[in-house]
Amino acid sequence: MELKLENVTKRYGQKEALSAFSHTFREGIYGILGANGAGKSTLMNLITDNVKRDGGSIEYNGTDILKLGDSFRDILGYMPQQQGLYEGMTAEGFLAYLARLKRIPGRKIPREITRVLRLTNLADVRHDKISSFSGGMKQRVLLAQAMLGDPQVLILDEPTAGLDPKERVRLRNYIFELAQNRIVLLATHIVSDIEAIAGEILLLKQGKLIKAASPKELMTSLPADVKPLMGSYFTLEDVYLHYLGEDPDE
Ligand SMILES: Nc1ncnc2c1ncn2[C@@H]1O[C@H](COP(=O)(O)OP(=O)(O)O)[C@@H](O)[C@H]1O
Ligand SMILES: [Mg+2]
Repeated sequence: MELKLENVTKRYGQKEALSAFSHTFREGIYGILGANGAGKSTLMNLITDNVKRDGGSIEYNGTDILKLGDSFRDILGYMPQQQGLYEGMTAEGFLAYLARLKRIPGRKIPREITRVLRLTNLADVRHDKISSFSGGMKQRVLLAQAMLGDPQVLILDEPTAGLDPKERVRLRNYIFELAQNRIVLLATHIVSDIEAIAGEILLLKQGKLIKAASPKELMTSLPADVKPLMGSYFTLEDVYLHYLGEDPDE
C-alpha cells in the first residue's frame, strides 16, 4: 500500500490552498497538523477527489487515482469535517444509505452495517435517531460510515472537533484500533489528538508542508537555542509553536 503525492497544488483564485505538496504515505497513522486555513481539508479533498487539483500527481500503488476512479473510491474511507447532516435518520438508516452510495452489494449491506456498528460500539443504538446522540456518538457514526467496505485508506478530517476531552480520548482510542493495516490520515489542530498515536506528523502552514517526522524526531529537531515556553522541558506544543508559529488552541 502506497499513496504517493507529488507536487500537488490547489488554488482558489489567487490563493494557493496547497502548494506543491509531496509526501508518500504507507501503512500507519499520519497526523496532519496545522491551524485553521493551513490546507488540511484541501489536502483531504484532493485525495478523496472532492476537488480538482491544479497540478501534481496522486498515485495509489503506482496509478493515478483519477485513472483508478471508482476502484480507488472503493478502498477509501472518508470522515468529512462538516457535521449535522442526516440528523433525522437512525444510525442504521444512515449507514444503509451510505453503504448504497459506496456501491457495497445489497446482500452484503446488513452484515457490513452490523460490523461497523460493533467496531464503533453503536450496536445498541442502531435504531435511534442521530439527532438524539451525544457529540461523541455522532462522531462515531461518521467514523462507522468511513469504515464501511473495510477501506485501505482512511481519511479523517478533524474527527474530534467539538468533543470534550473525555469523548476525544475515547474517539482517539477507536481510531487507533481501527488504524491497523491501513493508511490513516488524521487532520487536526490539536496536538494531543495525534501525539500518542501518529507514527508521523506533518506540519502544514499556509498550504506548505513545513516538516514531516515522527513525534520523537520532532521533539529532538528543535535548534539548541530554542527554549521551552514554560518550565524546563519541551512538549510537542513547543514544537508546534516553533514551526507553525501560532497557538494550537485547545
Ligand atoms: N471552496 C473554497 N473557496 C475558496 N477558498 C477556499 C475554499 N476552500 C478552502 N479555501 C481556502 O484555502 C485555504 C485552506 O483551507 P482549508 O484546506 O479548509 O484549511 P484547513 O482545513 O487547514 O482549515 C484557506 O485559506 C481557505 O480559505
Ligand atoms: Mg479543515
